[in-house]
Amino acid sequence: CGIIGYIGFRKATDVLVDGLRRLEYRGYDSAGVAVKTAEGLKVVKRSGKLSVLEAALREEGLEGHLGIGHTRWATHGAPTDPNAHPHTTEDGRIAVIHNGIIENYLELKEALKARGHRFSSDTDSEVLAHLIEEKYRGDLLEALREALQEVRGAYAVVAVHQDHEEIVAARTVSPLVVGLGEGENFLASDVPALLPYTRKVIFLHDGDVARITREGVEITDLLGNPLLREAVEVDWSLEAAEKGGFPHYMLKEIYEQPWVLENTLGGRLLEEVGDVDLGLELDPLEVDRVHMVACGTAAYAGLYGKYLLEGLARIPVECDVASEYRYRDPVVDGKTLAVAISQSGETIDTLEGLREAKRKGARTLGVINAKGSSLTREVEAVLYIHAGPEIGVASTKAYMAMLAAMAMLAIRFGRARGTLGQEEARALIRELKKLPRLVEEVLEKRPLIAHIAEKYHQAQDFLFLGRHVQVPTAYEGALKLKEISYIHAEAYPAGEMKHGPIALIDERLPVVVLATQGPLYEKTLSNIQEVRARGGKVIAVATEGDEEIRKLAQDVVYVPQVHPLLSPMVSVVPLQLLAYEVAVLLGRDVDQPRNLAKSVTVE
Ligand code: G6P
Repeated sequence: CGIIGYIGFRKATDVLVDGLRRLEYRGYDSAGVAVKTAEGLKVVKRSGKLSVLEAALREEGLEGHLGIGHTRWATHGAPTDPNAHPHTTEDGRIAVIHNGIIENYLELKEALKARGHRFSSDTDSEVLAHLIEEKYRGDLLEALREALQEVRGAYAVVAVHQDHEEIVAARTVSPLVVGLGEGENFLASDVPALLPYTRKVIFLHDGDVARITREGVEITDLLGNPLLREAVEVDWSLEAAEKGGFPHYMLKEIYEQPWVLENTLGGRLLEEVGDVDLGLELDPLEVDRVHMVACGTAAYAGLYGKYLLEGLARIPVECDVASEYRYRDPVVDGKTLAVAISQSGETIDTLEGLREAKRKGARTLGVINAKGSSLTREVEAVLYIHAGPEIGVASTKAYMAMLAAMAMLAIRFGRARGTLGQEEARALIRELKKLPRLVEEVLEKRPLIAHIAEKYHQAQDFLFLGRHVQVPTAYEGALKLKEISYIHAEAYPAGEMKHGPIALIDERLPVVVLATQGPLYEKTLSNIQEVRARGGKVIAVATEGDEEIRKLAQDVVYVPQVHPLLSPMVSVVPLQLLAYEVAVLLGRDVDQPRNLAKSVTVE
């Protein structure tokens, strides 16, 4: 979910709505604001998209210079008007917004009810409003601190009181950032919401409680002990966080990939010596196995990392989605390196998976995009992927950057462990350097891919096949299609197809096959034959110059020749574009697909 707060001299609703628009990718099934007006605290909230709230605000015309706003992704309670945030006390004097989950809310709610509180929503968040009300004796911050001492769970919470010119806030697991201005200050769950106003921010830490006034910010711990938190300048430009002329963020982000690769690889490749400089204070010789911990797209990047780290560095790697890793009691010791991969650095499953590894004594590394995010503070070492802000819910450029990070990690480990020779490393590095240009070439295939999308967008199902490093590419291609077009798609290692999914194949099933050059090319061709023999329609992603494949596949998208281990970076691009074009043809909401959120901070 997204939170925004404002206190200053501007019209609060303008800042709040603008901020929520930039945070919409964090969740968007309902939205609301509370503004301190001359007639007291006023709340307007609506289920549905932000535009519904905007229309309501135009009617209500709330005047005031202090307010808080929220865009919600439902966890407890359906996306209805009463369940939207902010939540207020019965007398309407206090309004509260909360992200996260309050684990003991039922208990708290029963007790509050017994003491005479009446509730107007099904949410866990509303208990916070009532708790704060009970504790309030003239100091809102004090009341918040006291209330939180009774709460178990994860939260970013902000509150305002009709009699106070201030916003109070606290966080544990869910992120919150304070934006510093002149005569005005801000609060948000993510940096893009602040960029039009300020670049100077303070990232609140777990357990921080803050009072924000026009003049400044006061931060304490839960017991009221003052804390010093440094302000940092963020270097994201506003343009970078906006669409830059593209119809969708997702398309813009797909097109940014050459630049992103430059950024991720930049300054790290040491071609002469055949090594990479990741600036990590982590000696590869101190670990003897790796556990990848991640979710969604990031988990597929981890799977790619497995092929590379095992292949080049001869280090055993396990890959798990974090929600499984956390509860499967993994075997970990002090020589295990847990690698948490995350665009947002806030995905709660990933954070908890990482914590589980830490509890068991693992060394830790984060492969992360968002600076200052929670994950960055919990790992020993961070390898930033430098993909810039990613707004489209379906991850594209962050995936690309994660793949590049995995390749560099494998080279570093391979060199350190003596399993990767200098010449081989140099060859890989030379190929890595070519990637930005090669990805640029693939982007030029968009008209062809749009044509393929036109042919198959009515299909009910898709199958994606690949082998070796292209297995994760197949998974990612299927995930992209599912996420934004809502077409059912499955991905399989091509060699495994005959053990089950082959039963699905008929003339209505488009099968996307990653058939780029590499040691298993011939085997993949046999799999294509198997699909053809059963009437399936083959869309192949193949290496430029491969004439053979034309005879077998209905459609071929050629990608440039590159080292086989790096082929996923050029091959995933047509799959991203295919998902995009199909979704557009089907009239889907590309940047905000139904039911999904960009950053899932609930378990
Ligand atoms: C959400 C998004 C996915 C993303 C996953 C992991 O579910 O919808 O697109 O891959 O979280 O996100 P992270 O920020 O940890 O990479």
